[in-house]
Amino acid sequence: LEGVATKPHYKGVRFLVSAGPTRERIDPVRYLSNDSTGTMGYAIARMAWRMGADVTLVSGPSELADPLGVSMIRVTTASEMERVMIDHAKDADVIIMTAAVADYRPEAVLEKKLKKTQDTLSLSLVKNPDILSQLRDHMKPRAKLVGFAAETHDHEHYAQKKLREKRLDFVVLNDVLEPGAGFGTGTNRVTVYAANGSVTPFAQADKLTVAKALLQLIHAQREV
Ligand code: CTP
Ligand code: CA
Repeated sequence: LEGVATKPHYKGVRFLVSAGPTRERIDPVRYLSNDSTGTMGYAIARMAWRMGADVTLVSGPSELADPLGVSMIRVTTASEMERVMIDHAKDADVIIMTAAVADYRPEAVLEKKLKKTQDTLSLSLVKNPDILSQLRDHMKPRAKLVGFAAETHDHEHYAQKKLREKRLDFVVLNDVLEPGAGFGTGTNRVTVYAANGSVTPFAQADKLTVAKALLQLIHAQREV
């Protein structure tokens, strides 16, 4: 099915998608990261291309192969992802931020390997920049901005807060504790909250199917 085009809803439309984790170095042999594999973002990039879009995928470290037809930019840290996303935001008609950006990074990167001389160890961490929150300021006025919300509790409250505070058109809510949803699974079950007030629950499905439903929802709103 790889090369098969679906209905070309998005001919001439430019997508910027982020995916995967970021990796924040502690010392030459260690880093902080998270369980994201990139599957959801790669599925969105793949499906957007199949729907006719021009797609750029900004990916943190991921084992996944480059999706066919997609222009790839590989990054490692949140700061690198921030620079690339901001640089490319002005060219995009739709930006979808699925990346699981590390919220914190070590305050200093050690040049030498940390030796296990202490019985307990504290790492000092500093907050990473919030990439998604900045993108609205760098986009074309009519472009659509989509974020994800990974939650374990008070899901709807936090999803609506991210929609509002990050100035999004859509937020895609994931319950990361639910089996068959979120990190490291082939499937996902999401609810999409739109700035226009609509709430759309999707059935649990493989991530390519979820990607297609999401892209159809965004497409319907671009028309109005
Ligand atoms: N995000 C980002 N930059 C960060 C952290 C998150 O761009 N430094 C983006 C993610 O890609 C996602 C959205 O913000 O699209 C929400 O990420 P999430 O981790 O759910 O929320 P946070 O804003 O990081 O807040 P918290 O982890 O405290 O819930
Ligand atoms: Ca976070």
